Amino acid sequence: MLEIKNLVVEIEGKRILDGLNLSVNNGEVAAIMGPNGSGKSTLSYIVAGKEDYDILDGEVLLDGENILEMDPAERAVKGVFLAFQYPLEIPGVATMTFLKAALNAQRKARGETELTTPDFIKRVNAAADKLEIPREMLRRALNVGFSGGEKKRMEILQMALFQPRFCILDETDSGLDIDALRVVADGVNALRSPDRTFLVITHYQRLLEHIVPDTVHVMANGKVVKSGGKELAVELEANGYADYKAQEAA
Ligand SMILES: Nc1ncnc2c1ncn2[C@@H]1O[C@H](COP(=O)(O)OP(=O)(O)OP(=O)(O)O)[C@@H](O)[C@H]1O
Ligand SMILES: [Mg+2]
Repeated sequence: MLEIKNLVVEIEGKRILDGLNLSVNNGEVAAIMGPNGSGKSTLSYIVAGKEDYDILDGEVLLDGENILEMDPAERAVKGVFLAFQYPLEIPGVATMTFLKAALNAQRKARGETELTTPDFIKRVNAAADKLEIPREMLRRALNVGFSGGEKKRMEILQMALFQPRFCILDETDSGLDIDALRVVADGVNALRSPDRTFLVITHYQRLLEHIVPDTVHVMANGKVVKSGGKELAVELEANGYADYKAQEAA
């Protein structure tokens, strides 16, 4: 279970998260929506452990354990995974090499045996085939020269391989063509399980037709201002955020 309590975060003196509360149960897919600049990506970075932020108050609890003091690698071992809104290009590191090193580092830290190369290749090929990622791409440098949609698929390939317990997808749907959207959504749905938790950040109801969320949370000005079921996303699509912005201004 993921619980975020009264999270207050600033960067360079600017308040970005302002007393954010959010709970997501095991097995749940929670959609996070909200206007540009409301703090959605910042929230995902704080959970994943990106530095440069001043955390003034609050807790991020994974199964009751506060992770805010842990470095990003420790959090990954605990099962935290972030699919970035803007995946980074890593020149000089073949995708295959990166995936194997990352997977085995996590397995080792958890006291599991490392995968042999043939075992690893079998797994990665199977995952790539499911996501319709050409195997040739796995030999290229990670994300370098990949199209926007290819980068997003690569994020989901990582998720499929690492099988993380806490998955955060930051606008994974942006830039995907209609077929890729379905492939990516199928990839996410295949991982849904009673002991896995998803935060799916998106601007569009369209993704949520494929990945049907259990809960929908609206962020505005650095906090969750409304929570509901999947119908909340449909309502937002029709009405926009005017109500929530007005509430904040009042
Ligand atoms: N390094 C920084 N310095 C100053 N302001 C920052 C910095 N990083 C983020 N912010 C600000 O924090 C706010 C929240 O940004 P964030 O990226 O979390 O928004 P978002 O909800 O993900 O928006 P979008 O829907 O456009 O992706 C924005 O106003 C942004 O300009
Ligand atoms: Mg964002």
